[in-house]
Amino acid sequence: MTQQQPKVLIFDSGVGGLSVYQEIETRLPQLDYYYLFDNEAYPYGELDRQTLVERVESLVVAMVETHQIDIVVIACNTASTIVLPSLRARLVIPVVGVVPAIKPASSLANKAVGLIATPATVKREYTHDLIRDFAQDKPVEMLGLTRLVDIAEEKLRGQPVCLSEIRKLLAPLANKIDVAVLGCTHFPLIKQEIQSVLGEQVLLVDSGEAIARRVQGLLSVSNVEQEKGSREIYSSAPPWQEDALNNALRKLGFSPVRPFPLEI
Ligand code: DGL
Repeated sequence: MTQQQPKVLIFDSGVGGLSVYQEIETRLPQLDYYYLFDNEAYPYGELDRQTLVERVESLVVAMVETHQIDIVVIACNTASTIVLPSLRARLVIPVVGVVPAIKPASSLANKAVGLIATPATVKREYTHDLIRDFAQDKPVEMLGLTRLVDIAEEKLRGQPVCLSEIRKLLAPLANKIDVAVLGCTHFPLIKQEIQSVLGEQVLLVDSGEAIARRVQGLLSVSNVEQEKGSREIYSSAPPWQEDALNNALRKLGFSPVRPFPLEI
């Protein structure tokens, strides 16, 4: 008899959390994965605080109850910087968040750190506290870019990426930094493009692998070879039959997107 595997819920506003999913599933393919994205309120980087907290709590709690989830990963920096305490208070299972990798970036930098994130994340007190606590000796240049999030959404759907547009968006960091924090989970999806624009001399750092290690530690599961678990994906609003998206998701092992609307 096959043993029941833990069920992991990965949550984001859009497809960015898939970069975190890939890190976790590479280590732990045997788990059952549920991915939920709140496309109705995307982009989170432009959303007011209260709406964001209410939506994330309602959607995540409902999903946990519906599917008897064992662990939640809020694979979104913008949400994690404000929602974790209240979400943890409502759930008895572990809730792992993703916050910008300021601490490792600062220890790796010789010159300066660039933080590329959403407009909301660069404004958050949580982010400023991280910089105060862990990057005191290095200058940190912050850049909040919703358009870069859109570019990652488009790339996953098979649309071409325009490097000169990314170059314009990242121009404020040009020649100023030697380490860049990808402080939004969408950005590892366009890591190659960001790297080619910033140059090979700039080290790119994200939180994906650290999150995967944390999930493995919390579940106390091993990464020995085992049969793959199931993969289901849900979104809060139509379109549920988006061919370009479903094609990309199939390659990642997911069945087509299913509805999971917000019910308040
Ligand atoms: N992927 C998200 C993050 O890590 C949010 C992007 C957005 O919806 O603005 O911040």
